Parts: sequence; C-alpha cells; structure tokens
Amino acid sequence: MNLASQVMSASTPPPVRVGFYGAGFISQFHVAALAASSVPNEIVAVHDPDAERAARFAASHGGRAVGEDELLELVDAVYVATWTSEHPRLVEKAAAAGRAVFCEKPVAVDAPTVERMVAAVERAGVVNQVGLVLRFLPSFRWVRHLVRDEQAGRVLAVVFRDDQYIPNQGVYGSTWRVDAARAGRGTLLEHSIHDVDILQWLLGPVCAVSATAREVHGHPGIDDVVVARLDFAGGASASLVSVWHDILERPSLRRVEVFCERLYVALEGDVAGPVRWRFAGEEEQVLEGDELRTAIAEAGDVGTVNSATAFLSAVRDGRPAEPSLADALPAHRAVDALYRSAGAGGAVVRLDHDQVDAPA
Ligand SMILES: NC(=O)c1ccc[n+]([C@@H]2O[C@H](COP(=O)([O-])OP(=O)(O)OC[C@H]3O[C@@H](n4cnc5c(N)ncnc54)[C@H](O)[C@@H]3O)[C@@H](O)[C@H]2O)c1
Repeated sequence: MNLASQVMSASTPPPVRVGFYGAGFISQFHVAALAASSVPNEIVAVHDPDAERAARFAASHGGRAVGEDELLELVDAVYVATWTSEHPRLVEKAAAAGRAVFCEKPVAVDAPTVERMVAAVERAGVVNQVGLVLRFLPSFRWVRHLVRDEQAGRVLAVVFRDDQYIPNQGVYGSTWRVDAARAGRGTLLEHSIHDVDILQWLLGPVCAVSATAREVHGHPGIDDVVVARLDFAGGASASLVSVWHDILERPSLRRVEVFCERLYVALEGDVAGPVRWRFAGEEEQVLEGDELRTAIAEAGDVGTVNSATAFLSAVRDGRPAEPSLADALPAHRAVDALYRSAGAGGAVVRLDHDQVDAPA
C-alpha cells in the first residue's frame, strides 16, 4: 500500500453496515435510496419470517438472511420496515442493543406507544429516524418556502386531498393493511399520517380537530373514507380528505391547495409537482420535476433529498437524525385525536387539553 492510499484508508470511515427487518415493498425503496446515497454503506443482513422473501432480498441486494437476534450483531443501523404492529418491539430491541434505527411510518398504532418508543431510543442514546419521507421532497419544500415568504401574508386555509387504491391489491398487495391487529387502523393512520405530519411541518402545531370516518369496504377497524378538519394554533385551518378506493389507475395521489392572504399555491402530484402559485398582482408561475430541486437549492435549502443520506450521515457522524421518532409524535397525537373525534360523532377534540366538546 503506498502512502496516499494509507492516508486515504486511515481517514475514510468504513461503510455503515445496514440490516433490514422486513423484505417487502417499502424495503425496495430504501435499498434504492441507500444505493443512491453519497454515504458509503453496505447491506449486510436481512430478517423476514417469510424465509423465501428474505432469501430473495439477500440474493438481490447482498448480505445474509439471518435470525432476528443475529441481525443486531452484524449491523450498525437497522431499517424496521415490517407491518406496523411489529415496529415497537423491534425498535425497542434495536435500541437496547445500541443500534441506530430507522422506523417506517406509522411508527406505531397509537401515540402512547410512540411515546414509549421515543423514551426507549432516547434512553439508549441511539440515532433514530422515521419514514416520514414527504419532508424530503423538493415539491413540499418549495410549497413551504413560498408560504413562508413575507409577501404571502398569513396562511388562511389549506385543502388537502389524498387518495389511493385500497392497498390490499395492486403493487402493495398486502393482506395486513386490512387487518386492524397488524395495521392498527385504515387510511388515516396508515397513509395520511404523512399528510398530518406535512400539515404541521407547514403550519405549526394543531390545536383542535374533528373528523368523520367510514369503513365502506367492510374491513373491521379499517377506515377508508375520512373527512377531517384541523385548526392550527397559528390561526390557519385545513381540511383533509383521505380516501381508499378501487381505482387501480390511481396508486397514491395528493393535491394540496394553500390560501394565504396574498398567495395561492397548488401542489398537483406530490412527488414531482407541478407546483403552481400566484402572488397577488403577479403572473401565475409553475415549476416541476428537477426545476423544483434547483429552486429549493437556489432559495438556500441545501438539505439532502435522500432519506438514506440523512440517516446514514447522522449514524456516521454520531449526531441526531431528522425526522426523528420524537418528530413523529405530533402527527400521531393529532391522528389519535381525529379518531377520537370520529368515534364521538365528529365532536371537536382539543389537543392542548385533550378535551372533547359537544358537536356544534
Ligand atoms: N414511507 C412510506 O411512504 C411507506 C410506503 C409504504 C409502506 N410504508 C410502511 O412500511 C411498512 C411495511 O410496509 P410494506 O408495504 O413494505 O409491507 P409488505 O407487506 O410489503 O412488507 C412487510 C414485510 O415485513 C415482514 N415482517 C413481518 N413481521 C416481521 C418481523 N417481526 N421481522 C421481520 N420482518 C417482518 C413481512 O413478512 C413482510 O415481508 C409499514 O409500516 C408501512 O406503513 C411506508
């Protein structure tokens, strides 16, 4: 080894050793994010009780299919990408072993369990991140940049629509999403936890909510039509419609309209835009795809757009990651409050003192 390569090997940190609990649909997304990450990493292990899935995953992405306990001996960091009911046990186990942990959303089936998980990762002092990945998208970041512009004035109202075909079919094909014992709840928790997180990331804390929830497909405990109202401590109000239908041509689509005093913004198509906006007295403008990435960078938002890079760099550098399990708590508390409201016939539930008022 010559001097240059000796210096290089002394200063280059080794790749982060990554393991997976769960070898299903979303793990493929994380594999792609790891492959695209600028932080060196290596997939060394996978565990899935579906042994065939685990073996296929290892054959395609590297590492070995191993038992649940053995995995923690092999990794620096673990992705918990199982169905929701298994997240708490596996996150607590990884934390107790001192491993960094990335937990998919929803973090758990209810907020008190998320609180317990936050306490576990904080007690263990491990790096932790959650799969609230919409926060990484340039499209949502550009919307946030626009509404924070002084010229916009105050945010008045948001209309948020999220629709997806019920995911026990098509590319998701999961039986567990219509099984309340494993999913906890339906579209509001399983899918729209993203939306409730984005709304608070955009507008600040929610102070009161109300909702109706229906189970049209007839799976007990699995809501598929939710109409919600959220009031924000900062003064804005939002409506959220979350629907699971059977239109297989619509896998997962969002449309968000934000009305400020002097700005209108519409996000059409969540991942790549377009984002259309108009300030009072100006022409309409529109950006989509890579233009949005350029726009956020030019506006000074130079954070990564890769959730794996955010996680791995925190693991490598030994500093906190974002969004953390604690960052997911406000969304979980608001979702729990929305379900309490729906269970009380649409009564207003206040988040500050957790109180249910009679319907107006
Ligand atoms: N961030 C996002 O946008 C997003 C998108 C889809 C799914 N998700 C979340 O990711 C999680 C997984 O969803 P999916 O679509 O990949 O489901 P999936 O059914 O495709 O995969 C889940 C896998 O977990 C395995 N599993 C169950 N218990 C396990 C255990 N104890 N140890 C190891 N493996 C176990 C199952 O056998 C299955 O192979 C869910 O919490 C879901 O809500 C997030």
